[in-house]
Amino acid sequence: MEHLLKGFLNVTEKATVATLPWVGKGDKNEADRAAVTSMRENLRQLDMQGVIVIGEGEIDEAPMLYIGEKVGNGEGTAVDIAVDPIDGTTPTSAGKDNGIAVIAAAPKGSLLHAPDMYMEKLAVGPEAAGRIDIEAPLVDNLYHVAKAKGKKMSEMNIFVQERPRHEEAVRIMKEAGATVHLFRDGDVIRAITPSMGNMDMDMFYNIGGAPEGVLSAVAINCLGGEMQARLSFRNDEEYDRCLKMGLDNPKAALRHDQLVSSEQGLFIATAITNTLFLKGANEDEDGLVTESLVIDGTTNAWRKVATNHLVTV
Ligand code: FBP
Repeated sequence: MEHLLKGFLNVTEKATVATLPWVGKGDKNEADRAAVTSMRENLRQLDMQGVIVIGEGEIDEAPMLYIGEKVGNGEGTAVDIAVDPIDGTTPTSAGKDNGIAVIAAAPKGSLLHAPDMYMEKLAVGPEAAGRIDIEAPLVDNLYHVAKAKGKKMSEMNIFVQERPRHEEAVRIMKEAGATVHLFRDGDVIRAITPSMGNMDMDMFYNIGGAPEGVLSAVAINCLGGEMQARLSFRNDEEYDRCLKMGLDNPKAALRHDQLVSSEQGLFIATAITNTLFLKGANEDEDGLVTESLVIDGTTNAWRKVATNHLVTV
């Protein structure tokens, strides 16, 4: 897998560069189309038999990188891929913070294969791995995580996306005495923060995109944290789609190893606009510079990569 890392980094960096003309232009679809087209083109260059197992849409929703789409040159390592060409299409098209191009990969058969729908997610870093249970009340999870980290409840910090569907969860966490940090968009990076150790963030709780969930799970797994999840259904059709994709019991809790079961994951996110820890693509006298977060299961570490693209947009 490691030999693919540079290639995947090139994929998210080039998708970022391709999206720049659409930043702030108010057209989500065109921004997305630019990122998807670039990703598809650059994935084709990689020596792998890649399959998108979770991503933006299904085959009838072209031009998405659709679930089941084969990517790569068809030779070499067999790889499962999770992708979100832009996590944060709304802020990107509005010229605001929190747009990233993101991809994750792991050996064939090791990533959850599911439709693009909502997923309830609970994530923690290494100190609290093994102490969470998405089927238990949220407040019990909070206490277990606080205990594992040797913190008082008043010292606990949790990221939650600012959405009406989270009002009850936010109320419960605040009543317990924890601090809830609401964010507008971009849950992939927020889910990873408890595992990164560079922020005082203890837990992530959110109902957001399932592809975003699997993307984060790969990064969290590489860093020794834990994520658990549950698919969240808006209608019967979503339930049937899960059955068709081979999930035996779509309503069951998804444990960490059902989201990602290999230690050999790769996760790369390039900032289109500014986001946590990463500066958005910007042009200075040296040219166009992008910043990416690179996480690799073999090193158990994360790093930031700045690249000068020597092109202007
Ligand atoms: P997209 O840009 O891919 O639409 O996702 C942005 C995002 O904020 C995700 O990070 C999050 O998982 C999801 O939207 C939440 O969905 P919604 O905006 O429908 O509440």
